[in-house]
Amino acid sequence: MKLGEIYLRIWGCLAAAASESDHAFNAMQASTIGLDGAPNLRTVALRRVSEPENLISFHTDLRSPKVAELDREPRIALAGVDSDRKLQIRVFGEARIIRDGPVRVDAWKASRDHDLIQYRTLLAPGTPIAQPRDAFGKKSDIPGPDEGLAHFCVVEVRAVSIDWLDLSEADNPKRARFIRSGDEWTRKWIAP
Ligand SMILES: Cc1cc2nc3c(=O)[nH]c(=O)nc-3n(C[C@H](O)[C@H](O)[C@H](O)COP(=O)(O)O)c2cc1C
Repeated sequence: MKLGEIYLRIWGCLAAAASESDHAFNAMQASTIGLDGAPNLRTVALRRVSEPENLISFHTDLRSPKVAELDREPRIALAGVDSDRKLQIRVFGEARIIRDGPVRVDAWKASRDHDLIQYRTLLAPGTPIAQPRDAFGKKSDIPGPDEGLAHFCVVEVRAVSIDWLDLSEADNPKRARFIRSGDEWTRKWIAP
């Protein structure tokens, strides 16, 4: 496979992952720099991917630690693996938190109710509680569906480089790096 084809395959995989919840790359590990300087990471679900916009987005809770971390240091890394095909994709980029405006509201409206439940918790993610159901407070305190919107944001990642590793052929491992410069991508093979 040529580098240009790999580039298209990467974006194709990520775009498919954003629309198929059981796709291998739907859940990626998002890595940030913690407020104490230590690395931090967590799983996020890809929500929108656009190669022409150089955009990969996910949703999160404005109250979550990762938002404070990205406010301080917007550089982010995403890593995903397709264990069956022995593929790894890593994306390094800059994150922008979308706290208001139509992109956020449209993303909220387009989400399944099931995916929005956690935004209705009264307590910020990470707050200690005695038992899981305490996150929602007393039953009478549970906010209505749209009240969770106040906690909801979209994180837009603009890639600056992408690393592809293909170990599907044990005797012919392939690794490529794509680096964004202006509106163009440079591409090269690198040693695995
Ligand atoms: C399969 C899966 C998908 C997840 N997707 C998201 C997501 O899209 N956005 C998100 O904020 N958290 C998501 N989470 C939860 C995060 O991994 C994490 O526990 C939570 O966001 C708190 O992270 P933080 O304390 O680093 O901010 C997901 C967890 C799993 C297991």
